[in-house]
Amino acid sequence: MLSQKNIEIVKSTAPILEARGIDITTVFYKNLFTDHPELLHIFNHSNQKQGRQQTALANAVYAAAQNIDQLHTILPVVKQIGHKHRSLGVRAEHYPIVGEHLLRAIKEVLGDAATDSIISAWADAYGVIADAFIGVEKELYKQARSQKAGFADFKPFIVSKKVKESDVITSFYLEPEDGGDVPEYDAGQYISVRLNIPGETYSHIRQYSLSSAHHPNFFRISVKREGKGTVSAYLHDHLKLGDRLEVSAPAGDFVLNQETTPLVLISGGVGITPMMSMLETAYRNQPSRPVSFIHASRNEAVLPFKGEVKRMIQGHDEGKCSFVYGTLALSEDQLEGDGSDYYVCGPVPFMKAVIERLKHLGVPVDRIHYEFFGPGLDLAGV
Ligand code: HEM
Repeated sequence: MLSQKNIEIVKSTAPILEARGIDITTVFYKNLFTDHPELLHIFNHSNQKQGRQQTALANAVYAAAQNIDQLHTILPVVKQIGHKHRSLGVRAEHYPIVGEHLLRAIKEVLGDAATDSIISAWADAYGVIADAFIGVEKELYKQARSQKAGFADFKPFIVSKKVKESDVITSFYLEPEDGGDVPEYDAGQYISVRLNIPGETYSHIRQYSLSSAHHPNFFRISVKREGKGTVSAYLHDHLKLGDRLEVSAPAGDFVLNQETTPLVLISGGVGITPMMSMLETAYRNQPSRPVSFIHASRNEAVLPFKGEVKRMIQGHDEGKCSFVYGTLALSEDQLEGDGSDYYVCGPVPFMKAVIERLKHLGVPVDRIHYEFFGPGLDLAGV
């Protein structure tokens, strides 16, 4: 329990830490990886190099600290990050390490301005925030383990099929090496894939949405080639049938609801992947639920799954689909009636534009479901 005094200190100093965010984060990661190089197996070191992910973790701590006396209000976001942490293999014992390095970095950057009472208030606050995450993650590990065919850590899988879906997207079918089944999952969830690339010291972990409904004996992911020297390029160019990689159990809370309301699935680019799982799942389990599938791609060459979507839509009692090349300009007649659910996934600018447009067209916010791809936004921004 935090004292009122410490709550006040933390709340009043959070904006100062946020303003020095980049400096603190840079020092934090540098020291963290010097003292604990083994954590480079978990963190995305390409993102570190590009600096994109740099501030997400620390910003989330500051944002949580500003809500320290009402942490329950940010619980949905803690859960969302908790899913990601669980899928990466983050453990309770990692929290004190991160906490210690964050405090050290704050002290190093702020110097004398970071008085003992400020540091001690932040240590208390970090402890409370970490406990909230640890509690959520413990529950998620338990759920993953207790499910039929479930597992809590990474497990070896074999590539059983590789299908080129477009000029830039290839699907990989992954089967458990032990010949067992894969656990059930909700449409929209993702898995983490851990790869050891020959010649590289640290493993790489990446998240990919599952791009089909649940099938008992395989996971399907569909990966966009991002550029030379990236993990996705390695998957496209080097990973072949029979190769082994490690996979963690499905995670994520951007999932298809079970209601019977009309469903509008809107995606841009590789954001189509969770929508494929949602479409197939709705097609299989809720054949009379109206579904409208709307997708925007740069051009036909990079567009995957057109045939697969059309086949499913034709088999659906009330289905329709439209494919757009270039910018998506949603019109009123593409909306379904009151109470419809809209699921949106794609690059950040695409999503922002679509969400804005849906709101402008009068769709209630609680009917718009979305997930940002790539490094997550900080707590305050979600
Ligand atoms: C990602 C917050 C502790 C490892 C993230 C993200 C946030 C966050 C906001 C981005 C989520 C996304 O991309 O969707 C926090 C907070 C923590 C905490 C507030 C403490 C209270 C930890 C710990 C570890 C860890 C203890 C393990 C050592 C990671 C990793 C990622 C991540 C590996 C993925 C991004 C990357 O690879 O750089 N965390 N985190 N986090 N977190 Fe945490």
